[in-house]
Amino acid sequence: MSHDYAIEVEGLTKHFGDLVAVDHIDLNARTGTVLGVLGPNGAGKTTMVRMLATLSQPTAGTGRVGGYDIIRNAPEVRSLIGLTGQFAGIDELLTGEENLRFIGRLLGMPTPAAKARARELLGQFNLSDAADKAAKAYSGGMRRRLDLAASLVGRPRILFLDEPTTGLDPRARGELWELVRGLVADGTTVLLTTQYLEEADQLAHEIAVIDHGKVIATGTPTQLKAKIGGQSLRIQPEDHGQLDALRDLVAERFPDLEPVVSAGAVTIGVNDDGIMPTLAADLRNRGIALTDFHLGLSSLDEVFLTLTGHRTEADDDADDEAEEAAK
Ligand SMILES: Nc1ncnc2c1ncn2[C@@H]1O[C@H](COP(=O)(O)OP(=O)(O)OP(=O)(O)O)[C@@H](O)[C@H]1O
Ligand SMILES: [Mg+2]
Repeated sequence: MSHDYAIEVEGLTKHFGDLVAVDHIDLNARTGTVLGVLGPNGAGKTTMVRMLATLSQPTAGTGRVGGYDIIRNAPEVRSLIGLTGQFAGIDELLTGEENLRFIGRLLGMPTPAAKARARELLGQFNLSDAADKAAKAYSGGMRRRLDLAASLVGRPRILFLDEPTTGLDPRARGELWELVRGLVADGTTVLLTTQYLEEADQLAHEIAVIDHGKVIATGTPTQLKAKIGGQSLRIQPEDHGQLDALRDLVAERFPDLEPVVSAGAVTIGVNDDGIMPTLAADLRNRGIALTDFHLGLSSLDEVFLTLTGHRTEADDDADDEAEEAAK
């Protein structure tokens, strides 16, 4: 592909009645790289992917995939892409091999070629032993692999993966990451949506964080982590009355970063953990007793807290419930 960018999106917008699900999104994915689109439930990830895959019409804006316009050149776009949807698109009653063969036939392959491609993919995805089992007997991890294999039958140069590892255990997730890395090594461009910062960090060359249909931050994983702090520190005082004093103290120690008070704790992104002993001593000196002092890898939720000052919606609900319960 002569194009520098396999995917270019400008002002892409989708309304559902009054709801603006995707709101003037601008994005680019360089050919042969992984663009991670990171966002919580309802952020607009699937809606965006469906428009780029020509399954739904934008309300406004444009997109080009492999140099082709997603509205005017939809058939050309379709011939270039593979799509693994958030919800498995395989036929439960067919075997693994039949599923892949069926797609090959739909793509116009002669039967022997479709069969050979199915066998090849089943081998590549470690599903040869299950080739003749009905897909309904597959585990969640096997289904995901079959689903990914299904999107690769036509050897797409551009692949959309919509939350490919949601619901998988860590091992199955790691295996899927390896498969994606292999595809990218062969030159495939991947747009991957995820709710996991770690997944975007592992796979993506560039990340776009989206919330309420808008891009709220972009950058390489390193840039993004530097912005939000690669790790996150959560400090919970025993006495809620000391939250403000605690926040002020943390703000003094990390002058470049903004601590956030939420759910009875102070959270802050941290780039330099060398300061921990000093901070712990400060807290002791000021007589602030703690129930939690936890340094961990930033989760999507902490990314959000840092970028937007609010939690992801699911956690807002959890907070509300916790507050209700406390009354
Ligand atoms: N066909 C539809 N009709 C009406 N509203 C829709 C439709 N599809 C999506 N929405 C709404 O658009 C918003 C974005 O949904 P979308 O499925 O794109 O989010 P998402 O980022 O993929 O979330 P998740 O992580 O839960 O898959 C949500 O508020 C959703 O309820
Ligand atoms: Mg979705």
